Amino acid sequence: MTRLERANNVADLRLMARRRLPRPIFDYIDGGADDEVSLRRNATAFADYELVPDVLNDVSTIRTETRIFGQPARWPLMLSPTGLTRMFHGHAEHAVARAAARHGLLYSLSTMGTTRLEDLAQAFAGPKVFQIYIFKDRGLTAEFVARCRAAGFHGLALTVDTPVAGNRERDRVSGLSLPPKLTLRSLLSFALHPSWSLPALTGSRFDLANVSHKVDALAAGPMSLFDYIGGQFDRSVGWRDVEWLAREWNGPLAIKGVMTPADARRAIDSGATGVMISNHGGRQLDGAPAPVDQIEAVRDAVGDAPDVICDGGIRRGSDVVKALALGATACSIGRPYLYGLAAGGEPGVDRLLTLLHEEFRRTLTLAGINDIDVLSRRHVRHRSVAVSSGSPRP
Ligand SMILES: Cc1cc2nc3c(=O)[nH]c(=O)nc-3n(C[C@H](O)[C@H](O)[C@H](O)COP(=O)(O)O)c2cc1C
Repeated sequence: MTRLERANNVADLRLMARRRLPRPIFDYIDGGADDEVSLRRNATAFADYELVPDVLNDVSTIRTETRIFGQPARWPLMLSPTGLTRMFHGHAEHAVARAAARHGLLYSLSTMGTTRLEDLAQAFAGPKVFQIYIFKDRGLTAEFVARCRAAGFHGLALTVDTPVAGNRERDRVSGLSLPPKLTLRSLLSFALHPSWSLPALTGSRFDLANVSHKVDALAAGPMSLFDYIGGQFDRSVGWRDVEWLAREWNGPLAIKGVMTPADARRAIDSGATGVMISNHGGRQLDGAPAPVDQIEAVRDAVGDAPDVICDGGIRRGSDVVKALALGATACSIGRPYLYGLAAGGEPGVDRLLTLLHEEFRRTLTLAGINDIDVLSRRHVRHRSVAVSSGSPRP
């Protein structure tokens, strides 16, 4: 049995990642904003839903295929955009995208990724989405749209929950800030993890590959690049900008970071084809609701056609079943695949996707569901309702 095969679930892969990475790098993946209330709640909220099974249904075959961003997916899961991926493993975005393709799943590349979108598209024929921002320099955003079209990206995900950076206190404590102010304890942790630190020091250059051409003075060091991109975040972005982007792109477009039914409706009215219900994995507004708790209201607001993707907190295949029953088209994961990547590179991502897929299919089988289209709200019940309706009257 290989080391990765000993991982039975996301939690095991997380522990393997924690052992392999210097603590500041692990905390950068694992942490959230402020008190990490939303980070924790995103995952625990799933436990508040019970799965209500059908019995004596023929579950000898189960249909799980769907379409997300208009693209086929073997089952209703996609991989969320995550920046700085090369920091977690030298094989970076290519490894994640290849594993996603093998599993028949959509991959999304972040604007803050460490692989050029053209290079990724050339190496990877599978369905892919680019995560975009509306920058102060609208020309930079328009340039991304043109590059994505030329490279053959199938969809865009516009992230709207980052008018400023969230307050990630774990990164402050470790000194993993911009510019880095690593503490002695952090430096020691790098020294104690040579299997990470040596390849990181000697491997391919680490930068924001999709925007580095914008900075003439790269000789001034990578920090000038981070300064440049940091200065591009625009607090004045509004719905008119979404309308503009939808026109420019004229293809599948999801707004990532929508939380309420009213904003979801507005997103569709502004030209988006879907929404990703998300609080950025609890990394931005701490106290924001758990995405799973918003699915029903968002689905009711937008109707049947748009993609409604539940992004954040998924740690078990059964979580995906619950989200679908509540009305989601699919779920999206960030940390789980990064744990897999950090734990073991591309085979680690493979292991993670295999585990989640097995859990997903097993849950459907046990719940008596032989086609994901059969799933409906009657298959899921919130604990608060179950307890109040089941308890005797005072
Ligand atoms: C290390 C890390 C980096 C991320 N970078 C980005 C990013 O560049 N753009 C973005 O829209 N979301 C980013 N996210 C958020 C993810 O896309 C996603 O919303 C979140 O991870 C979902 O929560 P989960 O980690 O519980 O699955 C990042 C998340 C993590 C953990």
